[in-house]
Amino acid sequence: MAEDLKIALGTKEEKYKSLIPQIIALIEGEVDLVANLANIVAALKEQFGWFWIGFYLVKADQLVLGPFQGPVACTRIRKGKGVCGTSWENAQTIIVPDVEKFPGHIACSSLSKSEIVVPVIRNKQVLGVLDVDSSELDAFDTTDQKYLEEIAALVIFE
Ligand code: SME
Repeated sequence: MAEDLKIALGTKEEKYKSLIPQIIALIEGEVDLVANLANIVAALKEQFGWFWIGFYLVKADQLVLGPFQGPVACTRIRKGKGVCGTSWENAQTIIVPDVEKFPGHIACSSLSKSEIVVPVIRNKQVLGVLDVDSSELDAFDTTDQKYLEEIAALVIFE
């Protein structure tokens, strides 16, 4: 795998379609979870430039901050709290067009305006979440949901 990522222009869908095979190549043959999560968030950051992209991992009864790209963030989130904890509790993706309108949203940065959180599910268990924040309102839609869920499904999560 070449270390340079090819950055696609075009629609959101075209960008994901260019990125996903590159992510597969990046993580192929690597069993280390942190290394793979780190490269996934770096690849998403390079292609899309979002404000904050990161994984939170379920550890005991909390989500704990994992590999991310962006400003420093909250370290621990309890089940049912914020967008991440709600996504974990419901085992569902949540798209938040305006974070100020999500009751209980945890503001790690006032610059974050919209957000999508995708749970990582294996054997019906949520093992973590992929959280993406944008500095623009209404940045995420069902296209992001489809492809970010696909990306979250790629990692061997052990
Ligand atoms: N906004 C998230 C917290 C994590 S940060 O955005 C990085 C939430 O409400 O769960």
